[in-house]
Amino acid sequence: MALGAGRTGTGMGLGRGQPGPGWSWEKPGTTGTDRAGTGWGHNGHRAGNGAEAEPGPRWGHGRAGPERKPSAVVSQQSSLIAAFPGSVTGAVSRYPVPAPAALSRPAAAAAAMLLLRAMAGRRLPPLMQLPRGCSRLAAGSAAPEGHREGTPGGHREGTPGGHRGAAPGGHREATPGGHRGAAPVLAALLGLGVVLAYGERRRRTAQAARATPAPQFPRYTRAEVAQHRTPKERVWVTYGTDVFDVTEFVEMHPGGPDKILLAAGGALEPFWALYAVHSQPHVLELLRDYKVGELSPEDAAPPPGDTADPFAGDPPRHPALRVNSLKPFNAEPPPELLTQSFLTPNELFFTRNHLPVPAVEPGSYRLRVEGPGGRALSLSLSELRQRFPKHEVTATLQCAGNRRSEMSRVRPVKGLAWDIGAISTARWGGARLRDVLLAAGVRDSTGDGEWHVCFEGLDADASGTPYGASIPLKRALSAEAEVLLAYEMNGRELPRDHGFPVRVVVPGVVGARSVKWLRSVAVSPSESPSHWQQNDYKGFCPSVDWDSVDFGAAPAIQELPVQSAITEPRPGAAVPAGELTVKGYAWSGGGREVVRVDVSLDGGRTWREAELGPRPERGRGWAWALWELRAPVPAGARLELVCKAVDRSYNVQPDTVGPIWNLRGVLSNAWHRVPVTVTK
Ligand code: MTE
Repeated sequence: MALGAGRTGTGMGLGRGQPGPGWSWEKPGTTGTDRAGTGWGHNGHRAGNGAEAEPGPRWGHGRAGPERKPSAVVSQQSSLIAAFPGSVTGAVSRYPVPAPAALSRPAAAAAAMLLLRAMAGRRLPPLMQLPRGCSRLAAGSAAPEGHREGTPGGHREGTPGGHRGAAPGGHREATPGGHRGAAPVLAALLGLGVVLAYGERRRRTAQAARATPAPQFPRYTRAEVAQHRTPKERVWVTYGTDVFDVTEFVEMHPGGPDKILLAAGGALEPFWALYAVHSQPHVLELLRDYKVGELSPEDAAPPPGDTADPFAGDPPRHPALRVNSLKPFNAEPPPELLTQSFLTPNELFFTRNHLPVPAVEPGSYRLRVEGPGGRALSLSLSELRQRFPKHEVTATLQCAGNRRSEMSRVRPVKGLAWDIGAISTARWGGARLRDVLLAAGVRDSTGDGEWHVCFEGLDADASGTPYGASIPLKRALSAEAEVLLAYEMNGRELPRDHGFPVRVVVPGVVGARSVKWLRSVAVSPSESPSHWQQNDYKGFCPSVDWDSVDFGAAPAIQELPVQSAITEPRPGAAVPAGELTVKGYAWSGGGREVVRVDVSLDGGRTWREAELGPRPERGRGWAWALWELRAPVPAGARLELVCKAVDRSYNVQPDTVGPIWNLRGVLSNAWHRVPVTVTK
């Protein structure tokens, strides 16, 4: 249930790969791996009609060009969309699950829980406390008590979790595993404790199983389980075909109550698959203690597909995603998970689809590349992989509509109500666009004026008009710009939602130009004629309305402005007095690396500098910086947390949204403000 990979154990999870938070379900010394699976369902998300929410080309009125249905698209959309269902509910999880063992509550589970809680550095009941210093060590802090107080500016030694190390200047290296001296001893103790407790538990369970017949449990539907999402209505989850009431466990969850609540009302498998620290017998046994029922047989199987629905072939998604529109699918990771790791797990990467996801047969996939003189290349997937060297880039993608919901609070705008999560980071692998263009005979001597490279996707509307976008040829041919035709995301093949089998990745540029399910690349003297290049993703003066707007007069957004947001705590949260940890992300377009993040606790009157987490590729400013600030906060205070980032060109964010308001709600990058209260 805990939602961090727990792999490196740094407090912010800022290391390379998939680092997790400071606590872990694991017996120390073991390593969690990201074993994300596929095949889970939506977990009862409701969403409005995405086609209405987002102005786009109308179905059936688009340009009907030749060759609109390539053979590689095996389940394309034909009689689309007259019937966009307005909302869809509760598909069941299709995640393949192991059969959990039948066990009951033993003292061993309490011992294991005690140890796990100690690892999480949480307060224990007095009789259960570990020797002085032990729980602190388990939480990853070796500093003497007195050094743990917050100091303005956020630079400190030995804070639990968080940024540690002695590097001057505030930029510290992550220290995977935390305190090496003490950890192995503690690890041995914890490991031994868990193993002994586990053995005892098995013995007693076997005895009990012989003595008593298996209890009969009531049956519940998934819809009934979905009604239990808060402690007030009880927190239920499912695993396999079993139903558990974990209300009493929520506060004990090593990853914190907020994380386990993300799974409330639905299946645990998608979370456990993502954060493999849970895949251990003692975790499963703890869960077994909370069993209250079983799923009714009809809910144990996935529902039959709806063939009339153009979106019926869309892939399964992770239930933690916050869905802004189900058809087409648009969703963002919850803020608490967004900055949990430097690289966003593929399953949680925000998704921005305008159309149904095409089902592409990789064996028959072909990419068409057209040069200016009519010279063309047609590449299969294996040719793309083999003919061109693989290049890797760690890059953040951000949608132009990220943080739109803040803009619509000033005045209504048209578009999906993205919160702060239409941004994510991955390590992309693929062929350089430059290499492919050169192989197609393209040179940077295409004549006067600015030339462009136009991309088309395999996703198309009812008229056959595909999604399209373009970037300047100069960027496409620049070795420094590192534009990719990517076929890998975080070391795995591209997921379907993110463009399988090939997508464009344009580092430093608005996500709209990183065309997914790429079918063609064409060099042209004009920008893409696509609706999304010509009549969308452009910024305007706040006075421009839908009567006066002239899309032809504004340039298409390419490089995005500097951006930052607070991911923890959440707006309206009640935080405990003492040391407050504020976390967030910061990024700027065009490769302009973030050099500083300023944080205020008093609405912008006074400021402190946040600590920037480690970045794997310093100097290649395509990826975000995760940051953190720790500061003491007094009981009863009402705070307005604010963050603003500064990029390498000393660009800063505007302080309020009003002056940058625009009718499409794009480029929303004002200071991010989060009101919180401090409990007494
Ligand atoms: N490419 C195609 N073919 N179809 C799309 O709908 N959406 C674009 C871009 N590429 C889109 C596309 C937009 S607006 C964004 S922000 C990014 O994909 C989002 O990429 P992601 O879904 O992988 O996060």
